[in-house]
Amino acid sequence: MPVVQRSLKRLLQDLPQVIACGAHDALSAKLVEQAGFDAIWASGFGLSAVRAVPDASILTMSETLEAARAMVEATSIPVIADCDTGFGNAINVMRTVADFEAAGVAAISIEDNVFPKRCSFYAGVARELVPAEEHARKIAAAKAAQRSADFMVIARTEALIAGWGKEEALSRARAYADAGADAILIHSKHPDLSELAEVAAAWDRPTPLVSVPTTYIGASLPDLERAGFRIVIYANQALRAALSAMRDALAALKAGDTVALEQRIAPLEDVYGMVGLKELKQNEAL
Ligand code: SPV
Ligand code: MG
Repeated sequence: MPVVQRSLKRLLQDLPQVIACGAHDALSAKLVEQAGFDAIWASGFGLSAVRAVPDASILTMSETLEAARAMVEATSIPVIADCDTGFGNAINVMRTVADFEAAGVAAISIEDNVFPKRCSFYAGVARELVPAEEHARKIAAAKAAQRSADFMVIARTEALIAGWGKEEALSRARAYADAGADAILIHSKHPDLSELAEVAAAWDRPTPLVSVPTTYIGASLPDLERAGFRIVIYANQALRAALSAMRDALAALKAGDTVALEQRIAPLEDVYGMVGLKELKQNEAL
């Protein structure tokens, strides 16, 4: 059995930068671990996509929880659960923390969008944020609800996404850090790192910063580290890769290209390995 190191907090103490990658189910979470990432991001965008629904608070808390739990059970690295707006007010957030922590999740992220949230990248949707004080109270409630010292609450601000400016992003980040957040995710859809780098340069709290380089994917890990981001989340690339791969394979099948396709898809033995067939056989022999 691998050594189970589930604490994101301890990883942050040990590593200059923690790199997480998004997963949308237990199998993709296992692939993230095998690829050598430090942590798994249980992506709300991905969990919604695999149910073919938009990332717009359609998924319930229990659906998200069950998906995160399956990722925890399939892997041995920290799972960071994307809890959108926390599934309600500060009281609901307390239950969210209790349930996700009990499931073995290392950290949750709670964002300051109003409920129902809309994915940060959807164009042409009205964006409204809850008042900073309200979100700060949610963060304080989340911290009060956790049981182990290692559990982390990541507060996320959508101020830049909403077009509310760098000063607003900074003042929200400060309010959430002062409310006890263990890390601050400042989300940006800027095509490069310049906007975020300015905010990060003005950061004046010890609380680590988190970035999600989706639109500014050209920013390298050293660029992000120099800018001050201790945690980096590649949120949706594995999901998008799966979509392209499945579409490509289905088109080949439909075209009757079956033999050529067989050469470029995972052999059955690969699937057996991913689902623990060897362990099943060993257990059957007991
Ligand atoms: C997610 O993966 O669900 C996220 C990151 O919240 S993003 O989609 O970039 O907002
Ligand atoms: Mg999300």
